Parts: sequence; structure tokens; C-alpha cells
Amino acid sequence: MRKYVIAPSILSADFKRLGEDVRTVADAGAKYLHIDVMDGMFVPSISFGMPVVKSIRPVSNIVFDVHMMVEEPGRYAEDMKKAGADILTVHQEACCHLDRTLNLIHSLGMKAGVALNPATPVETLEWVLGVVDMVLIMTVNPGFGGQKFIPYTLDKIRKLRNMIEERGLDVDIEVDGGITTGNVCEVARAGANVFVAGSGVFGGDAAENVRTFVRIFEGLK
Ligand code: DX5
Ligand code: ZN
Repeated sequence: MRKYVIAPSILSADFKRLGEDVRTVADAGAKYLHIDVMDGMFVPSISFGMPVVKSIRPVSNIVFDVHMMVEEPGRYAEDMKKAGADILTVHQEACCHLDRTLNLIHSLGMKAGVALNPATPVETLEWVLGVVDMVLIMTVNPGFGGQKFIPYTLDKIRKLRNMIEERGLDVDIEVDGGITTGNVCEVARAGANVFVAGSGVFGGDAAENVRTFVRIFEGLK
């Protein structure tokens, strides 16, 4: 049976009360906390880095799912581990030596994820699929919260799930961007099982939204 996870993205949280927002979603049943790190180079925006991750680490044992929208993210892998990251996801497009970066993440004791922008084919992961714990299919162009889900990414998710199953691997498929309680079922049916939601959680009553996602997952089993 597939394990379904909601990963609220703190990019849409209220930064002046970040710790409370983290506690709210963890208490409501979220198993992952999605943390978007942006460098102003790989993506246009700058968000936050290690000091913020470190400062919220004591708030909860929730899995810290760190999404590095950063050029050559391997440069920060060790610091992110020290700050409290559990899963470190790097972009295929941002790593010159992807295999080396993934091995570095594992050697530091974190789970390793690879993210793909909407235009990047899933076939690019053919040789590293056996090395990763999770693939993040971007369902919007990275850089901002609150964008609209790109429909063709559903086909990418299906294709990737087939690749994973054909090889008998145990790899999570995470989706990120424009995920709501309205489209999550369709995305899950395509083969995704970890769902990032920023505005879809923090855009209203965050605890209630997390509980709604979890209820929807119960119905999928
Ligand atoms: C976008 C980030 C996302 C963002 C999603 O580049 O990677 O994690 O927070 O926001 P929503 O769910 O509002 O599309
Ligand atoms: Zn993200």
C-alpha cells in the first residue's frame, strides 16, 4: 500500500510567527514540512537559508523536507544537515555532477531527492533512479508560491511511476506547485504520493486544511 504524505510548504506561512505555524501543521497530522530554499540565481527569488531552518528545528520532530532551489546545492549539504534537514532535494538542472551530489547527501545521513522542472524529461533520471529516495516533479515553474498547476505534468508523473515500477524500486514521487484539496486525488491517481502544498494549506485554516488532505488520503487506500 502506498504511503501518502502532505508536506505543507512554509513559503506560504506567516514568517512573523513561523514556529507556531510549524507546530499547527505538525499537530494537525502533517508528517513532512516542506522548506523552500531559493538563491536568487537558480530561481529569481531569495527565500531563506540555514539560520531559519535551524531556528525552527526545536519546534517539532516533523520530517524536514528541504527543497534546494539553488545552483550547485552540494555546497550547502553539510550545513543543511547540521541545521536539521532530513531529506535534501536538489534540482537535476542545478547539479553538474548529480551522482556525486546525491552520494554526498547520503554520506551525510540524509535522504536524497532529485527535482525536475516542468520542461525537464523524466528520462534524464534513468541512471540515478536507483540512487534516489524521492523524485520531486515540479508541477509549476519553481520560484513562487500560489501558481497554477501545469496539467501536462500528470503525464510525467505517470511515466515516472511506470519507470519506478518496471524496475521494482521503492522511490517516492513528490509533487510541488498548485496542489489543492480539489486536484490532489487526480495527482495521486497518476502516481504521486508526497504532496507539497503552500497556499493550499496556509491560505486558510492550516490545521483544517491538513486534516482535509489526510482524510482524502484515507479514502485513497
Ligand atoms: C515553488 C515552491 C513551492 C511552493 C508551492 O517554487 O517550490 O514549494 O511553496 O506553493 P503552492 O502550493 O502555493 O503552489
Ligand atoms: Zn518546493
